Amino acid sequence: MTAQTLIDTARALVAGDKGLLAMDESNATCNKRFAALGIPQTEAARRDWRELIVTAPGLADSIGGAILFDETIRQKTDAGLPFAKALADAGIIPGIKVDTGAKPLAGHPGETVTEGLDGLRERLAEYAMMGARFAKWRGVIAIGDGLPTRACIRVNAHALARYAALCQEAGLVPIVEPEVLMDGDHSLARCAEVTEEVLHRTFAELRAQGVLLEGMLLKPNMVLPGLKAPVQDSVDAVAEATVACLLRTVPAAVPGVAFLSGGQPARLASARLNEMNIRFRSRLPWALAFSFSRAVQQPALDAWKGEAANVAVAQKALVQRTRANRAARRGEYKEEA
Ligand code: 13P
Repeated sequence: MTAQTLIDTARALVAGDKGLLAMDESNATCNKRFAALGIPQTEAARRDWRELIVTAPGLADSIGGAILFDETIRQKTDAGLPFAKALADAGIIPGIKVDTGAKPLAGHPGETVTEGLDGLRERLAEYAMMGARFAKWRGVIAIGDGLPTRACIRVNAHALARYAALCQEAGLVPIVEPEVLMDGDHSLARCAEVTEEVLHRTFAELRAQGVLLEGMLLKPNMVLPGLKAPVQDSVDAVAEATVACLLRTVPAAVPGVAFLSGGQPARLASARLNEMNIRFRSRLPWALAFSFSRAVQQPALDAWKGEAANVAVAQKALVQRTRANRAARRGEYKEEA
């Protein structure tokens, strides 16, 4: 595997103003979202939902890569195609979530460290055989009273870099996702401070461990006030704070920044991405793209409700969101009715 292959894949993932679709919810997370809508929490229902997504007409117009979960990459469409093959045939690069979840960090109440490094080399080789060309790992940082601790930031950055190095060794582009959560009543300024520290530490570890910056993508949170913050800042203020934070921390060699949505309402996430691209796109060294799960899937899931009769309507809702976000990459997103 050459460095050039990694660079080409990383660039291809964000080419053409497209973004990534995160459809890699663990069974527990997927089941939680199904339960809220009364959808059965079964392997068959999860497969049906992922089939609806992967076969949505027009998805590839706005989506360059899709992130699968372990269960999903082993499942097939009704037509008998493995999901990774169905995506590749549609022109969407298949990827895979390889972390095994955020677990309580010893000695640090309220904080987690993401696990999954043991045996990762062998798992990556298997996923590559199944058609995956990129991978994802999410570290989680909570803001709270005395949080995050330096220990939490350090261990998560270290794990992200170990994962990224293993991915590149296996020829998979690592999506490096250090997520600062929106939960809490903290201000936009506090989120900016924490996100800046987390990204600095993450890139220091990536450098220390020899990760090729040109052959990876960053998947950060936007800089936002906490969900319960008394002041909810404007789209403009969020765009400005987010881009300022990235400019201070993300090396120009990284080809793309693809935001997670983190629980933002779908349209607001699009509006914020749009504003960043309108105001800053021409001056930024990296693409500002999206890698949303909830902000793309939720309206479609609400429409589907687990009913075969609703598949076409749900697929339309899904593709509408992916188109809205592609427009946001160009700074051409229009407020929806
Ligand atoms: P959200 O867009 O719902 O935050 O999910 C993105 C993701 O992949 C989380 O790891």
